[in-house]
Amino acid sequence: MEVYTASITMTICIIAVPKHVPKMRKQIVAGNWKMNCTIDEGKRLVSEVVQLMQNEIQNNAEVIFIPPYIHLTNLSEQLLTNDTLYLGAQNCHQNKSGAYTGEVSATMIKSCGATHVIIGHSERREYFSESDALLAEKVNTVLENDLTPIFCCGERLESREVNTQEAVVGEQVRNALFHLSTEEIAKMVIAYEPVWAIGTGKTASAEQAQEMHAFIRETIAEKYSNEIADSISILYGGSVKPENATEIFSQPDVDGGLIGGASLKSRDFVDIVKAFD
Ligand code: 13P
Repeated sequence: MEVYTASITMTICIIAVPKHVPKMRKQIVAGNWKMNCTIDEGKRLVSEVVQLMQNEIQNNAEVIFIPPYIHLTNLSEQLLTNDTLYLGAQNCHQNKSGAYTGEVSATMIKSCGATHVIIGHSERREYFSESDALLAEKVNTVLENDLTPIFCCGERLESREVNTQEAVVGEQVRNALFHLSTEEIAKMVIAYEPVWAIGTGKTASAEQAQEMHAFIRETIAEKYSNEIADSISILYGGSVKPENATEIFSQPDVDGGLIGGASLKSRDFVDIVKAFD
């Protein structure tokens, strides 16, 4: 029996693979009108935005109008023929129906033609004492109705000042979302909105936004997988304006914005969408 000694020359190529695949995700600009606009004002705002977008926008970013509930049915009719414009609600009740005077269910929102629901906005957490446990229930009811939750998280100024922002946001994400299955979490949109930047004119720097978005993605990757984390759109919210949108949206882990004040001005809102051109 002959014994051959094979001499094998191996070439090892080390290719630098980025930890997370850049921007295969949906780009989204959502306008949260908060408690603003009468019926006529809302109709006018949407028709101005639609008109400006038709004339000026080159990109395919999803644009979501998130008005008070009373506008949903009208605006749904107004947007019927448009396939990049969507409609969302600012909140919903956690139960399906029943004796909850003044509340609106996810099923009712869906029946108006909306596709998205904001859950856990810091104003709901602060003024209506919404807890992580309640938000987890609301996320469930939104998903059960085949609507997309836009889950908001973000630290207050006190946390930023003592550098505990990641601990705070990590806990918000874990407490409200980590009961979800892989299929369910993949349907989420997340919005990072530092409380100190909301309505204050004080925007997080592009670096601060990127750092927190990467952290949120990492947190999701650890529990689920890199693939799932890379597929979830994470929006930045807090004093986004036409002047700062391009820089913020161009960060690798920022997939768009949740816009408050500037979503009430058609010119500004469309200029923010233009940041994706
Ligand atoms: P502003 O853009 O007015 O700061 O509001 C951000 C926000 O809360 C969006 O949900």
